[in-house]
Amino acid sequence: MPPPGIQRMPDCSAIEAGEIGAFGLSFVFRAALTHPDFVSLQIVILAAGLGKRMRSELPKVLHPLGGRPLLAHVLDAARALRPARIVVVVGHGGGQVRAAFPQPDLQWAIQDPPHGTGHAVQQALPLLDPEGSVLVLNGDVPLIQPASLLPLREAADAGRLAIQTQVLVDATGYGRIVRDVAGCVLRIVEHKDASADERKIGEMYTGIMAAPAASLARWVGALSNHNEQGEYYLTDVIAMAAAEGVDIATAHPAHQREMKGVNSKAQLADAERALQRALADALLERGVTLADPARIDIRGTLDCGRDVTIDINTVFGGHVELGNRVTIGAHCVIRDCRIGEDTVVQPFTHLEGVIVGAHCDLGPFAHVHPDTELADGVEIGNFVEVKRSRIGAGSKAKHLSYIGDATIGRNVNVGAGLITCNYDGANKHRTVIEDEVHTGSATQLVAPVTIGKGATIAAGTTIWKDVPPGGLVANEKRQQTRPEWKRPVKKPKRNT
Ligand code: UD1
Ligand code: MG
Repeated sequence: MPPPGIQRMPDCSAIEAGEIGAFGLSFVFRAALTHPDFVSLQIVILAAGLGKRMRSELPKVLHPLGGRPLLAHVLDAARALRPARIVVVVGHGGGQVRAAFPQPDLQWAIQDPPHGTGHAVQQALPLLDPEGSVLVLNGDVPLIQPASLLPLREAADAGRLAIQTQVLVDATGYGRIVRDVAGCVLRIVEHKDASADERKIGEMYTGIMAAPAASLARWVGALSNHNEQGEYYLTDVIAMAAAEGVDIATAHPAHQREMKGVNSKAQLADAERALQRALADALLERGVTLADPARIDIRGTLDCGRDVTIDINTVFGGHVELGNRVTIGAHCVIRDCRIGEDTVVQPFTHLEGVIVGAHCDLGPFAHVHPDTELADGVEIGNFVEVKRSRIGAGSKAKHLSYIGDATIGRNVNVGAGLITCNYDGANKHRTVIEDEVHTGSATQLVAPVTIGKGATIAAGTTIWKDVPPGGLVANEKRQQTRPEWKRPVKKPKRNT
């Protein structure tokens, strides 16, 4: 007889993802978000392992993937299901993990020291409602998507035990799914415990399981640690359930990349590539032109308007918005920026925390720091650095300048090599350049200083007093010519 709380299905053939529910997955997903019966779902995320294979001081689930911690990705998938509660099991570096995720919707269970994934689930049980169902996620399986979790959730809500599996050409390192001749799941064998024949099995366990809470509690309570690693494996509950005659449902993720577990830096790099490719494909789908979808990195979120073009090897970080017809040249770094329509960012440009207007032209080799706003039609050229500044519409700084703590008006021409001397060694001071000022090359503006509207600064001038509007300002300098002067010559080297 099946135990209370778990249903015996009419036959033991495994249910595949597509057969669960009468609807396509996307419809099921929408329904799941609003269905009142689903409130009993509880999600447990396992994140207490030592992560030894990462060979790092940082807790494994804090390692960044696409610029965000592994655990942040898993939490995105978990939250999309709107569970009644999310319990994260932490141990090694648990304080650090909790500090990184201060959100109030999370509950924390402590597993210290860690004795395996089954032991980890045990630590979460006191926080769970035994009447509800439980979805167990691994904190190191970050690419999982909510739609792929729905079949498991439905199976658990229907009183069944469900596991997520994937068939791989080479499943080395993962737990393998052992089935009987009829195709029913019998058990999961960990790679380290598997026989040579079992290691040839291509179907692996992704680390994601769902079951009624009461059944799961009973099974994990009966686990032993008689195995290669001396751990209480969560995966051993499958053999227990099968021995009780419980039918075990299996579902595959929608995309193969979703199964990728991160145990080592090599697997982290592999998951990063898979994520980046998926993000690039999504951009292509939305009509963005990518010179090479294999050579773009998005470490955060990137929103693009229509007809955006992105050349190779640009790294986007934080939240970046590109307006219609923006063009990004090769090898740029762009973080937390909003870039207006028709703006061109030339190669090797570094922009961080910048609001850029429409029709601007930035770079190549420009460096614009946070707290900077460039109005429409601004041009920032080669080797120009801008920091904490506002630059008005139509103004240009095309060559070799440093503009820091400045407010620059409209249609200003900043000559090559202008430097705002904004730092007195202790404090920063502002420079104000009013509309239509023209500065010659190699000028220095010693802040605090204001250049009045329409003034012209002669080349090579050092300004340390406010300049009135209009007119020309220049420093007195005398040019000397000494025709008799001879350039020094090197003394010949003596042989020793
Ligand atoms: C686990 C599965 C394996 C599956 C693979 C998928 C077990 C025994 N094995 O192996 O079948 O193919 O995931 O990626 O479950 N953790 C704890 N406490 C512990 C041990 C681990 O919370 O005591 C956490 C880890 O932080 C990690 C997750 O559980 O997030 C999985 O642990 P890990 O050691 O990575 O197991 P795998 O060898 O990947
Ligand atoms: Mg793992």
